Amino acid sequence: MQIEFVGSGAVEGAPLSAIAVLVFEGPVLSTAAEALDQATGGAISRVLAGRFRGAKGQSAELLAPAGVHAGLVVLIGAGAREAFDDQGAELAGAEAYKATKSSGATLLELRFSDVSAEQTARAAFGVRLAAYRFDKYLTREKPEKKPSVHRAQVLAADVNAALTAFHPLSAVADAVTFTRDLVSEPANILFPEEFANRVKALDVLGLEVEVLDEVQMRALGMGALLGVAQGSARPGRLAIIQWKGASDPNAQPIAFVGKGVCFDTGGISLKPADGMEDMKWDMGGAGAVAGLMHALAGRKAKVNVVGILGLVENMPDGNAQRPGDIVTTMSGQTVEVINTDAEGRLVLADALWYCQERFKPKFMVDLATLTGAVIIALGHDYAGLFSNNEDLAQALGDAGKAEGEQLWRLPLPPQYEKQIESPAADMKNVGGRPAGSITAALFIQKFVNGLPWAHLDIASTAWKKPSTNPTVPEGATGFGVRLLNRLVADHYED
Ligand code: BES
Ligand code: MN
Ligand code: ZN
Repeated sequence: MQIEFVGSGAVEGAPLSAIAVLVFEGPVLSTAAEALDQATGGAISRVLAGRFRGAKGQSAELLAPAGVHAGLVVLIGAGAREAFDDQGAELAGAEAYKATKSSGATLLELRFSDVSAEQTARAAFGVRLAAYRFDKYLTREKPEKKPSVHRAQVLAADVNAALTAFHPLSAVADAVTFTRDLVSEPANILFPEEFANRVKALDVLGLEVEVLDEVQMRALGMGALLGVAQGSARPGRLAIIQWKGASDPNAQPIAFVGKGVCFDTGGISLKPADGMEDMKWDMGGAGAVAGLMHALAGRKAKVNVVGILGLVENMPDGNAQRPGDIVTTMSGQTVEVINTDAEGRLVLADALWYCQERFKPKFMVDLATLTGAVIIALGHDYAGLFSNNEDLAQALGDAGKAEGEQLWRLPLPPQYEKQIESPAADMKNVGGRPAGSITAALFIQKFVNGLPWAHLDIASTAWKKPSTNPTVPEGATGFGVRLLNRLVADHYED
C-alpha cells in the first residue's frame, strides 16, 4: 500500500478513486463531508435520512454521485465529535480501506478534516494495517478477488506535521507486517534456520544478531530446548537480537523472549489431525519479539533492548523425546517430560535462563502461544498476562489498552505449584486440566531468578478468525508488536 499525504489544494478526484469522509454522531458532517454535500447537491444529506447516524463502526456508500469526480464516496461513522481520538482515527482509516478495497477504485482518498496531525497520521496507519494480505503463494488468483485499492492519498491540514507524526508509525506498520509474514509462512518454508536467517537480515536496520546452533546450545546446557528439538530433521536455533539505541550503549537493557515453535505436532504426544495446520503459527511469540526489534530499530528508539528467540520444531520421530524422559535445563533444574506437547515452556525455560544470565536485564517479558486453555479462559480478544511485578503488569496492561491489544491478568497462586511436582525430577512439564494456563506460567516462573518478569500467553490472539477489528485482517495478527513498542516508548526511552 502506497501512502502519500497531500495538502488541500493538491486533492483532485478521479473516476477510479474512492473518497472517504468522516461523519460524527448526530449526525454531524465534518468539513470535508459538508463540502461534498454541497458539491453533490445534498446527496450526503439525503443518505442521512436513512439509518446511518455516524456511529463508530457504521459506514454508508454513495456510488458515483453527480458533482464529484469519483466512483465512490464513503461516509465513515466516527462517533461523538468530542470523544474522537487517535485510536478512533486509526479505526476510521481502517474502516475506509475495508469499505472501498474491493470497489474497483484503485485510489483511496482519505479526506479526514477537522482532525489533528497525529490523527491524520493514525488514519494512514490504520489503512496500512488493514491492507495487509499474505498472498505470495496465490499464483492464479482471479483479478476480481484481489483488492483494487493500492494507493492512499491522505488529506492533511499540515503535510509536514502529518509526515512527522507518521514516521514512527510507519516503522511500526513495517514491523507488524514483518511479524504477520513470519507467522503466516508455512512450516516447510519457515523452519528454525530460515527464521534465524530472516532475523539476521535485520542487521541492515542496525540490529546486532547472533544465532546459536545446537552444538553451542549443548555446551551451554540447554537440555530442555534441545530435548524438544531432537525429534526434528530441522535443527533448533537460538537467535539473540540486540538494539543499542540508548545514549549509553552499555546501559542495562530490558529483554523480551519469544516461543518460536515453527511447527508443533505435539511430538510423541501427537496432536489430533483436525486443525493441526494451525500449529504453523506456534512461533507467534518469537515473531512478535522479532517484530518489536524491527520497530525499535526502524524508529531508532533511545533504549537498549535484547530480544531472544527460542526456535525449534516439535516432531515425532525415532529420535524424538519420550513421555517420561527427564531433561536437565540450563538452570540445573531437572524436568520430567510427561507430555511432549507441553513443549513451549521447555523452550522458554532455557531461553529465559540464558537471557538473564548473559544480559542481567531490568526485566524480562516472554511471549508465547503457550496453552489452548487461555483460549477457553479469555476467548480471542484478550491475551493472558502473568507477572511477579505490579508495576510491570500495570504498564503492560496500559500499553495493551492504548494499542488495542488487550491483556487480562491471571494469578500465579503458589499453592498450584503442587500440580507440577514430580516424584522423579525437580518438576514435571504438565499440571493436569485445572488452570492449565496458570500451571504453565508457574512452570516458566521457576526459570526466573529474582527479577521482574511477565509472561503473555498469546495463544488466543496470535491468529484471527473473521474479525471485528478492521486494523487486523483475518490470519496472522502480529499481536504484541504494537503493545511492546508502546511499553518501551512510554516508559523506557532516554
Ligand atoms: N502450541 C500449543 C498451544 C496452543 C493451542 C496454541 C491452541 C494455539 C492454539 C502448546 O504447545 C500445547 O500444545 N499446549 C498444550 C499443553 C498441554 C499438553 C498441557 C495444550 O494447550 O493443550
Ligand atoms: Mn504443544
Ligand atoms: Zn506449542
